[in-house]
Amino acid sequence: PGKHEYSIACMPADGIGPEVIGAGVEVLKALSEASGAFKLHFEDYDWSSETYKKLGKYIPDGGLESLKKHDAILFGAVGAPDVPDHISLWGLRLAICQPFQQYANVRPTRILQGTESPLRKAKTGDLDWVIVRENSEGEYAGQGGRSHVGMPWEISTEVSVFTRHCVERLIRFAYEVAQSRPKKHITVVTKSNAQRNGMVMWDEIAAQVAKDFPDVQTDKMLVDAMTCRMVLQPQSIDTIVATNLHADILSDLAAALAGSIGIAPTSNLDPTRQNPSMFEPIHGSAFDITGKGVANPVGTFWTASEMMRWLGEEEAADRLMQCVEAVCGNGIMTRDLGGNAGTKEVTDAVCAEIRRSY
Ligand code: NAI
Ligand code: MG
Repeated sequence: PGKHEYSIACMPADGIGPEVIGAGVEVLKALSEASGAFKLHFEDYDWSSETYKKLGKYIPDGGLESLKKHDAILFGAVGAPDVPDHISLWGLRLAICQPFQQYANVRPTRILQGTESPLRKAKTGDLDWVIVRENSEGEYAGQGGRSHVGMPWEISTEVSVFTRHCVERLIRFAYEVAQSRPKKHITVVTKSNAQRNGMVMWDEIAAQVAKDFPDVQTDKMLVDAMTCRMVLQPQSIDTIVATNLHADILSDLAAALAGSIGIAPTSNLDPTRQNPSMFEPIHGSAFDITGKGVANPVGTFWTASEMMRWLGEEEAADRLMQCVEAVCGNGIMTRDLGGNAGTKEVTDAVCAEIRRSY
């Protein structure tokens, strides 16, 4: 059970971030008021690419210390057309995830009631996955460099780093996730044929961890073959564990197979709970639709539900998703899901559904 009163840092950042986070906060307030079961205190953080363009940095001095005081962080998306993506990503999102040791990135996907998968044969219930992504090292450890920049003989290296400590803690967490789900099934995804060092160590560590979870059924796939299986046999998959890069790619595919990148949530968790965890929709800042009022807020609603679950408010988390699915089931959806509602109509409908449900 949760402690029923939570301090949430709100960081909408760039593009459609403020639109979807605004919608998420509205829905969370409706949930808190209607249930009377818990209280949320929101504190706004305006760190964004605008801050970077003005001050040369995303996070002000002492920023991480003040962020640390909250129970959770609700994050929008970072990225602006006039800031290189590697600057924005490393300047804000990774600058929070890595020092806060949010080493488990958890990405559930399913086909929501009322929505359609682009897979002809997949119906609601046929695709219900959780992808657990390593979120602290691997291909995104930031190791490497460039020499002789711009010369024909320029060289660059992008070094993947896999440590036994980080791989084991992540795989163990993924097995716990698999164990908590009805199917108790996990697919360990690597590329240990071509990447013969780090990925072979992953396979070995997974085999060792598996022994501690005799009730969880394990299978193994190479990442390229996994893309085929996700498309052709979605019912055969439940929990997936993979590296930072592999799972990044698989989870965008998963979101698209479930209907839209606009519905999927992400949790960046510090399972030790020494630091606040960070919750965000999977999509980016979507400049092409910014300010048009058409961004799908469902990814943020699902994100908010995952946040409430992590904080211990299971009942609120379940109810929020039931209300979101009821609204989708009534055909109130944004354009990316084939509907014609705007962000505000979907948000109002979900708030109304929440009030009706109590
Ligand atoms: P994106 O996710 O922003 O957009 C991809 C496509 O999906 C676009 O056509 C967009 O309109 C659509 N889309 C995204 N979210 C939607 C929503 N809620 N409702 C309806 N349609 C939606 O990815 P893209 O275009 O590759 O990246 C744009 C910027 O976002 C870049 O600067 C990138 O670095 C950043 N980015 C940031 C992320 C983060 O903060 N975690 C994650 C992914 C990208
Ligand atoms: Mg991604």
